[in-house]
Amino acid sequence: MTAATKRLFIKTYGCQMNVYDSERMKDVLAPLGYSSTDTPEDADLVLLNTCHIREKATEKVFSELGQLKRLKQASGGKMLLGVTGCVAQAEGEEIMRRQPAVDLVLGPQAYHKLPELIARVHRAANERLETEFEVEEKFDALPIDRQVDGPAAFLSVQEGCDKFCSFCVVPYTRGAEFSRDVDTIVAEARGLVRKGVREINLLGQNVNAFHGRAPALDAGEDWSLGKLIRHLAKIDGLDRIRFTTSHPRDMDDDLIEAFGDTEKLMPYLHLPVQAGSDAVLKAMNRGHTAERYVKIIERLREIRPDMAITSDFIVGFPGERDQDFEDTMSLVETIDYAAAYSFKYSRRPGTPAADMFSQVPEEVMNERLQRLQALLREQQTRFNASQIGKTLPVLVTGTARNEGQMAGRTPYLQATHFSGDESLVGQIVDVTMTTASLNSVGGELANQPEPVR
Ligand code: 5AD
Ligand code: SF4
Repeated sequence: MTAATKRLFIKTYGCQMNVYDSERMKDVLAPLGYSSTDTPEDADLVLLNTCHIREKATEKVFSELGQLKRLKQASGGKMLLGVTGCVAQAEGEEIMRRQPAVDLVLGPQAYHKLPELIARVHRAANERLETEFEVEEKFDALPIDRQVDGPAAFLSVQEGCDKFCSFCVVPYTRGAEFSRDVDTIVAEARGLVRKGVREINLLGQNVNAFHGRAPALDAGEDWSLGKLIRHLAKIDGLDRIRFTTSHPRDMDDDLIEAFGDTEKLMPYLHLPVQAGSDAVLKAMNRGHTAERYVKIIERLREIRPDMAITSDFIVGFPGERDQDFEDTMSLVETIDYAAAYSFKYSRRPGTPAADMFSQVPEEVMNERLQRLQALLREQQTRFNASQIGKTLPVLVTGTARNEGQMAGRTPYLQATHFSGDESLVGQIVDVTMTTASLNSVGGELANQPEPVR
């Protein structure tokens, strides 16, 4: 082990993929003596792991860089400043032009090259940009051993996207669809479990398009996500499996059935639909209708009646008429979501939708978003309240904000708080729910916790 002599501050924007990547960057930098700090003020290296999905996310990066420049000056130029993630990939050259204080720019496929790039910067070589797409090399080169932070962890199994939804930058920033080999995923999962992880969330931009090379012992066809999950479920000590984010087009029967036959697979699915109108779905190039989406959810609920469904929505996609929006509202009524994210359409230069006629006026988007969010909030509140009186297994993840309270999550991924002490962290305890709000549920321990293993 190298002694920790330098401080690293990473600020993460956007999706869970970025959260995972930030963790992996810490792993890569640990052998160089970097340990994490909570503030940029005293850091030797500051990385902004950025998101390019909507315009607002990108703007934030440039304003943050302006502030960090001042901190860097205050440090006498000692602080290194880097931009990683999807803004780095999409606008690397623009970043270097607009903000000379930036020392390094790395795309999401280049994190294993961080030590090399830092060394180059130290040698004052003028090579600040690394945005090649070599996703395979990235996974091969990242250290197998991971630092863990609590009993729940992300594990990336797939990256990139070939779907080309007409509004979305991901196929351009994250590149083509790529699945990791089953053997390396299993090794990483076992390593996490050895360090006390009990819940693994399998990550991918298009996670259910997973088609990883079969393990050495079964060198047959590529494995689907369903097969991978059933295999991971055999790992002793791993109690909960989740996956995100899925596309309706790749929701095959095998995966749907896994919710019925694999107890460790949690009854929760994030399945973005984006819109409820077939005309809009077509213009979005989603490759499915509203009816097909509803059928998938019905099938899931036949298999697992308590299935919690969440989604993403975009309002105001170019050409969205009042009736199209009403179709989204009725789809929401039909599905009855446990939670959802909803956004105003954001025009992303370079995507096909950016050039579509009839962009929807801002006031119309605002009005639609408010109505949609009001309905989704009502459903989410109702879903949380429906747990009151029930006893649910809660994975204890840490302390809650209030004194004497612990935090955890239900099988349905609801944030949970209950009275208890820190010895419970990492255990799965039964909690009888007594309160609920928009964003969480609360309760009391139902019985004595399991003995410490
Ligand atoms: N405008 C608004 N929302 C978008 N998303 C992706 N691209 C855009 C865009 N151009 C949303 C989608 C996706 C989520 C991650 O972000 O709903 O599922
Ligand atoms: Fe973007 Fe569509 Fe791919 Fe999701 S499926 S990452 S929305 S292009």
